[in-house]
Amino acid sequence: MSRQPLVAGNWKLNGNRTMVRGLMDSILDAAAEIDATEIAVMPPYPFLGQVQELMDSSGLGERVRLGAQNVSLYDEGAYTGEVSAGMLAETGCHYVLVGHSERRALFGESDQQVADKFVVAQRAGLQPVLCLGETLEQREDGITEAVIGRQLEAAITQAGVAAFADAVVAYEPVWAIGTGRTASPEQAQEVHAFIRRTIADMDAKIASCLRILYGGSVKPDNAAELFNQEDIDGGLIGGAALKATDFISICKAL
Ligand code: 13P
Repeated sequence: MSRQPLVAGNWKLNGNRTMVRGLMDSILDAAAEIDATEIAVMPPYPFLGQVQELMDSSGLGERVRLGAQNVSLYDEGAYTGEVSAGMLAETGCHYVLVGHSERRALFGESDQQVADKFVVAQRAGLQPVLCLGETLEQREDGITEAVIGRQLEAAITQAGVAAFADAVVAYEPVWAIGTGRTASPEQAQEVHAFIRRTIADMDAKIASCLRILYGGSVKPDNAAELFNQEDIDGGLIGGAALKATDFISICKAL
């Protein structure tokens, strides 16, 4: 398979300079031995520069990459509090999350806004990590594929399927995020296969190269069986990304 595995750590609203230093020292040390897997670290905005400097001095360049958790729809202007895609690129970001379920649920981001952010990120040279996921209620109503399909279609319509050659998709069932309740490997695989099929219907080559990450209570003890599934190409890790030993053992599981 030609898809390079990727483990991304989304720190969410956590951290301080001391923690960044300790966590990054451990991750960079371990990364020197993990050569098959790409690692991405996504700290809050104020720590992007610090993480980038630590990465630069490690010389691990292509193997450990910087990502942001969100991006503004706007490039510049009177938008107090926003951070543009260009600024993220200039700070050294390679990836940016778009449409994380916490952004959708807590900050009201619509499918259309997420699709617009996908385009804005790519225009600045960033790789968007498009997050998709259904709530527990939607799963119980049997509409998981309809929800994921709708979220995915919004980005395809806006950006075109070819744009997925420079993007990553993350399936994060809302009910599995921060709950300790992970999707079973079979449940996750089913949705990952659906996402790949949806893209393959439009472009088989892009679909076969597309990396689809799983996120939602990934821990050292469940990572390997999730990553064993055919269409799971890595993980988007929340809580376990804040503990060096856990994050490193998840990277090793892949
Ligand atoms: P947890 O790993 O804490 O469930 O979070 C997953 C997530 O939201 C990563 O983006």
